[in-house]
Amino acid sequence: MKQLLLLLIILTTHNFIIPSHSEKCNPDDKNALLQIKKQFGNPTKLSSWNPTTDCCNGTWEGVSCDTDTQTYRVNDLDLFDLDLPQPLPIPPSIINLPFLFYLSLSRIPNLVGTIPSSISSLSKLRYLYFSHSNISGEIPNTLSQIKTLVTLDFSYNKLTGPLPNTISSLPNLVGITFDGNQLTGAIPESYGSFSSLFTSMTLSRNKLSGKIPASLANLNLAFVDLSRNALEGDASVLFGSNKNTQKIVLAMNSFSFDIGKVGLSQNLNGLDLRNNKIYGMLPEGLTELKFLHTFNVSYNNLCGEIPQGGNLKRFDEYCYSHNKCLCGSPLPACKT
Ligand SMILES: *[C@@H]1O[C@H](CO)[C@@H](O)[C@H](O)[C@H]1NC(C)=O
Ligand SMILES: *[C@@H]1O[C@H](CO)[C@@H](O)[C@H](O)[C@H]1NC(C)=O
Ligand SMILES: *[C@@H]1O[C@H](CO)[C@@H](O)[C@H](O)[C@H]1NC(C)=O
Repeated sequence: MKQLLLLLIILTTHNFIIPSHSEKCNPDDKNALLQIKKQFGNPTKLSSWNPTTDCCNGTWEGVSCDTDTQTYRVNDLDLFDLDLPQPLPIPPSIINLPFLFYLSLSRIPNLVGTIPSSISSLSKLRYLYFSHSNISGEIPNTLSQIKTLVTLDFSYNKLTGPLPNTISSLPNLVGITFDGNQLTGAIPESYGSFSSLFTSMTLSRNKLSGKIPASLANLNLAFVDLSRNALEGDASVLFGSNKNTQKIVLAMNSFSFDIGKVGLSQNLNGLDLRNNKIYGMLPEGLTELKFLHTFNVSYNNLCGEIPQGGNLKRFDEYCYSHNKCLCGSPLPACKT
């Protein structure tokens, strides 16, 4: 009985000690997170980042730790709608979370300054998202040092300067989303040498200009959106009957090519070519596209009879209007 009591005492005392020793959060990570909170000006949304609690126990807003390998290093930081007290840059201490594979800062109006080139020291990053904030300056070419990168999303900020031309060497990159910035210059020739994994390119609502490089014919893009720029040249390189393309959005540029000569992917579900200088006759193959549900070729230089049938029946006259000499339903009949 006495021994049992002793055992009980030992067990309870031991149990009592466990919580403080069982903190899974790595002290370096915790330190970095507390610095980040400070550099963000202690926003109320991060009040759960309490130094006396375990950063890995699921209570710290936007923080996750590596439970798979049981190392419990902070590998995921997902922060949005933060109420920063004044305009502040991306916290410099972010680079002190070396195990991050997912980093997202979005919808933070007071997040200003540039994307630090030192971000490239986060050598395990796969997903990097800085979106819907007020980040400015150029997209650093040092991103091409993070060989693990899978997707980049810097949409809806105030980024300027050229598209980073070295990122096409990233072996695992699947997509880039840079829409809604003030990026200038041409699409780099090097973008034709993205790996075969690269399937999504969204660059709409920028100030890109110049001719689309012929090298882009090498890509097999599922989604491409270049709309609302000042791009020109032969965008037929994005098409091809042997590609898996689902959506092509080129609206509001100055592209000029013969639409009659493009090959159509059977998976195409969206084709928005409005407001360009595209010429030629609409290909008959459009009527065979089983998934086509978005289509607009208005305000171009197209001619000839609109192919009849299939999903093309779904689109009204405003999807075809303001061309050079397109005719036939839903536009007025062709002159015989
Ligand atoms: C996490 O920490 C908080 C604060 O100390 C505590 O109340 C909660 O019980 C802990 N949760 C888990 C799952 O350990
Ligand atoms: C950028 O800052 C301006 C002015 O501070 C603010 O009105 C706007 O909402 C911010 N933009 C974003 C996307 O947060
Ligand atoms: C097609 O584009 C024209 C010109 O921008 C626009 O007026 C029309 O509403 C669009 N139609 C559809 C269905 O998007």
